[in-house]
Amino acid sequence: GVMGKSLALNALDKGLSVSVYNRDTLAEKEVIPDFQTQANHPALQGFTNLEAFVNSLQKPRKILLMVTAGNAVDGVLGNLTSLLSKGDILMEGGNSYYRDTQRREKHMQSKEVHYLGIGISGGEAGALNGPSLMAGGNMEAYELVKPLLEKIAAKDTNLQPCVSLLGPNGAGHFVKTIHNGIEYAEMQLLAEVYALLRPSLSQEEIYEVLLSWNEGPTSSFLLETTLGILQTKEEDAFLLPKVLDVAKSKGTGTWSGEAALRYGVPATLLIQAVMARAVSNRKDLRVSLEEKLDDTPFEATVDTEKLKMAYQFARILNHAQGMELISETSKEEKWNINLFEVTRVWSNGCILRSQLIEELTAILQKQPSLLEASKIYTSLVQWEGAVNETLIASMEQRTPLPCMSSALQYWYGMTTANSSANLIQAQRDAFGAHTFQRNDRPSSDFFTSSWNLNG
Ligand code: 6PG
Repeated sequence: GVMGKSLALNALDKGLSVSVYNRDTLAEKEVIPDFQTQANHPALQGFTNLEAFVNSLQKPRKILLMVTAGNAVDGVLGNLTSLLSKGDILMEGGNSYYRDTQRREKHMQSKEVHYLGIGISGGEAGALNGPSLMAGGNMEAYELVKPLLEKIAAKDTNLQPCVSLLGPNGAGHFVKTIHNGIEYAEMQLLAEVYALLRPSLSQEEIYEVLLSWNEGPTSSFLLETTLGILQTKEEDAFLLPKVLDVAKSKGTGTWSGEAALRYGVPATLLIQAVMARAVSNRKDLRVSLEEKLDDTPFEATVDTEKLKMAYQFARILNHAQGMELISETSKEEKWNINLFEVTRVWSNGCILRSQLIEELTAILQKQPSLLEASKIYTSLVQWEGAVNETLIASMEQRTPLPCMSSALQYWYGMTTANSSANLIQAQRDAFGAHTFQRNDRPSSDFFTSSWNLNG
């Protein structure tokens, strides 16, 4: 596929010798010859025979598997494993589910073959020019491939390679999954900004607003990508309004939401972003339900400076939530992931690269709790009013802003010392005798009461 080809070209460009293998089914007969012509490189060997490919490699063999996540990975592993020798290193670079990676690593251990699950981000251009690489597996195997991975990876601001062994077994693929969850919410936030501005501004005007945001703390690769999209025309008309408003997904966003639910981490923005795609997929029902509404056009005045603050407010909370999700899962799985190293690896090459990631990296080098960092806390307090005003405008205009409003709700919740969960505890005890704790007794003590249920 395109990612495998781009990574192979990247490796050749960095002076590595590369053997590539692709099956030669009828539809894929030309893949290897075409790629050899395209690369035109003396250090490249192409194979359509798996055994010949394996035999072309120096021992211990270092193989990077780039096939679609899921059953295809198990299929290739089934054919490949018997051809490998003790000590060979198999790296799997798809968007795999981390529990699959854990299972596969265990299986490979029984064959004495090293298995590294590597999250790769950056799309085709990243793979070609320098991706961000999130590795999971054992140190001994990682040390053997580290020089190769460091050559092909993007470089951070200190010119260190954006690759790291983030933890054992599924840690790398899990971090890539959360990278994608954060990515879903970052994409959704940009879509919400676009949705809010669309009734009152032309596409050219929206472009101008966002262009001014792409300098300083709000700048990012995804914003830059959005600017490119806003400028793209087909013949004389903008292409974006012709794109169907239905967003698909391949699984990583859902898995990040599942992890948040499993470990009880309030990663509300990434869950809302997955749900927003689900809403987008109900196109026919949306059309039919809108038809029944009063058709007076709604249009609110949106202050773009306040919108910018609201956008950055939501982005900070999105990243803080994602980092907490990594941290809590790391504790549960005993991975010992270093959060600073995660954002450092994300600081270049990947889809999430942005000035914010660089700022978070500097903070995480000193302390693990982003919300308690004074720079973050002060900004959030300062921008709360701007978020309120933006959301009021969105309600006047009937524009759904699920991620932005979820950010504000989360912020309200996290800055409320005295929540209403006392009532939840009381309800659980009243109907199910689930017991409750008291704030006038140690929280380690549990009580039950005979609540006055019959009024
Ligand atoms: C990357 C991207 C890339 C892709 C995902 C998400 O880091 O390079 O995250 O992996 O965007 O496949 O795709 P979906 O939106 O289709 O789930």
